[in-house]
Amino acid sequence: MSITVRVPAKVNVQLAVGAPRPDGYHDLANVFLAVGLYDTVTATPADGLRLTVTGPDAAQVPLDGSNLAARAALALAERAGRTADVHLHIAKDIPVAGGMAGGSADAAAALVACDALWGLATPREVLLSICADLGSDVPFSLVGEAALGTGRGEKLEPLPVGGTFHWVFAAADCGLSTPAVYREFDRLCEGREVPAPTASPELLAALRDGDPHALAATVDNDLQAAALSLNPALAATLAAGTEAGALAALVSGSGPTTAFLAEDAPAAARIAEALAASGTCRSARVAASPAAGATVVGQDPEP
Ligand code: C5P
Repeated sequence: MSITVRVPAKVNVQLAVGAPRPDGYHDLANVFLAVGLYDTVTATPADGLRLTVTGPDAAQVPLDGSNLAARAALALAERAGRTADVHLHIAKDIPVAGGMAGGSADAAAALVACDALWGLATPREVLLSICADLGSDVPFSLVGEAALGTGRGEKLEPLPVGGTFHWVFAAADCGLSTPAVYREFDRLCEGREVPAPTASPELLAALRDGDPHALAATVDNDLQAAALSLNPALAATLAAGTEAGALAALVSGSGPTTAFLAEDAPAAARIAEALAASGTCRSARVAASPAAGATVVGQDPEP
């Protein structure tokens, strides 16, 4: 028996960041949009917890107890009063440490896969609370589509999306650590009053209307200056995408992946080609949004 779950990456079309909280996190107004770039996680019974990863970035994925998919399986097993005797295989296509919630996606997928494999039928609210314990972006990977995340990003309110948005994502040559980017954000804000984060009504309307021009005019990432400060080379990638006709160019989450909003699918293909040829990024690929959250896509009854 094995269960395969497919889970999308995300881009933050708005990431409004507040002042640091006493617990070290930052309050956010985080408008998540799931994009059709996927990892799949397959859960198979095993003697103990085993983890394998394939894909272009597989070598960068930790296989120890810090792996979020392994931690998700352990958390669910503990709650169910059983052992996490499962082999998790991650087929990785989402950039690693890229600001696209790849690790969070694998955690949400592992949770859904183990829940099905072990026949637990865990209530959705319980799965969401396990997700929130694992990381701020994990609940969104479970639900997908589009949502406003508040608190540290884990409190979700679904958002309507009135059309398909076409994107290009450019992978950078090196990763950026999320805590380091938040620290740099704090450093850049030193001595300034940081306003409480709020979602932009114009941006929410653009999503609802499915209007890429209106969305391009309102996308905003408060972590972008910090990501550029730590990795100034990203400015050249952003400029190359703009030059190639992107309606908007922004850093995805804490980076270093950069995201480019295109008018339509053919424009996205042209921008991806120009970015790949620009020499300013490792690779560039297209993806459409929104996309469904972690979903069972395969059930193999064979042992
Ligand atoms: O929640 P998660 O473990 O994914 O967060 C990783 C790191 O990102 C945190 O340790 C913190 O440094 C930073 N973070 C933050 N505020 C948030 C979310 C993440 O400061 N809302």
